[in-house]
Amino acid sequence: MGLVHRRIAVLTSGGDAPGMNAAIRSVVRCAAEAGIETVGVRDGYAGLAQRKFEDLTIRSVGGILHRGGTVLGSARFPDFCEAAVRERCIESLSDAAIDGLVVIGGNGSQRGAHALHQQGFPTVGIASTIDNDLAGTDITIGVDTALNTAVRWIDQIKDTATSHHRAFVVEVMGRDSGYLAVMAAIATGAELAMVPEQETSVEAIAGLVRTSYASGRGHYIIVVAEGAKLKAHDLVTQLNEHPSGFEARLSVLGHVQRGGSPSIADRVLGSQLGAAAVAALAAGQSGVVAGRVDGKTALLPGEMVIMPCQKVTAELLQLAAALAQ
Ligand code: F6P
Repeated sequence: MGLVHRRIAVLTSGGDAPGMNAAIRSVVRCAAEAGIETVGVRDGYAGLAQRKFEDLTIRSVGGILHRGGTVLGSARFPDFCEAAVRERCIESLSDAAIDGLVVIGGNGSQRGAHALHQQGFPTVGIASTIDNDLAGTDITIGVDTALNTAVRWIDQIKDTATSHHRAFVVEVMGRDSGYLAVMAAIATGAELAMVPEQETSVEAIAGLVRTSYASGRGHYIIVVAEGAKLKAHDLVTQLNEHPSGFEARLSVLGHVQRGGSPSIADRVLGSQLGAAAVAALAAGQSGVVAGRVDGKTALLPGEMVIMPCQKVTAELLQLAAALAQ
């Protein structure tokens, strides 16, 4: 079924990601190009439940491409797990003569999008999260900028670590995925990456740090994914209780990784995925998510995208370990 009213809505949901604005702008302008109006929903699914709608035009999305965050606002809205809440949202969309929805977000958001699709409302997703934890797509909007941010901060930490001959435990985001941690470790030449996908013991790490100090290394950087079993702050405590030569310090990068002006890669990716999502809705498709496969924009089945995924491969972990010698 095509778009009866030629009017779609777009929302951003879950953790914001740099490049979401590029996707919003692309949705609005590509829709306009196809003669389709776009309504923006403020504050994700929570705003949808409250009918926070506003018309977006090719002019109103001007000047947002370079901005971090999302101009539409975002929210976490656990109530959306309830079918009755979603049913009311579908009514709100239909009352506003909206016959398709674009959901820009990560895992939880795409789950919500898939549920709307299953309840009969045409919905298409755009893969967007700094965590890169959506199955099927090589990359998601925001990962490149978040990694660049993490690398910039870790490089700076390395300067002071070298000056003071210290060990630094740097915690990065990623929820249950170690993707950001292992990539940041490779890109900064960190001595160790600790990720949820690989078990490590305090004793083994303390041994590595001690050997490194004894061999004359000037600093020791450990990048820890927030989802790793051994928590960054516990590791610092343990390292200081069992001296290796290096005094240990903790640095938690936190939400700085989610902010900031998007990189070129995220601006282009957001623009391409926005276009693909509009084209899919216009062609009567639903239940798919725009992502990237083998360097090309692709539409992936929603049920596949929300499955657990494994982006931290044994090869990546081996490479990080080999380079850290
Ligand atoms: O999913 C993006 C993310 O930044 C995760 O890396 C992190 O675990 C989580 O969101 C933090 O969420 P909040 O901003 O709601 O605390």
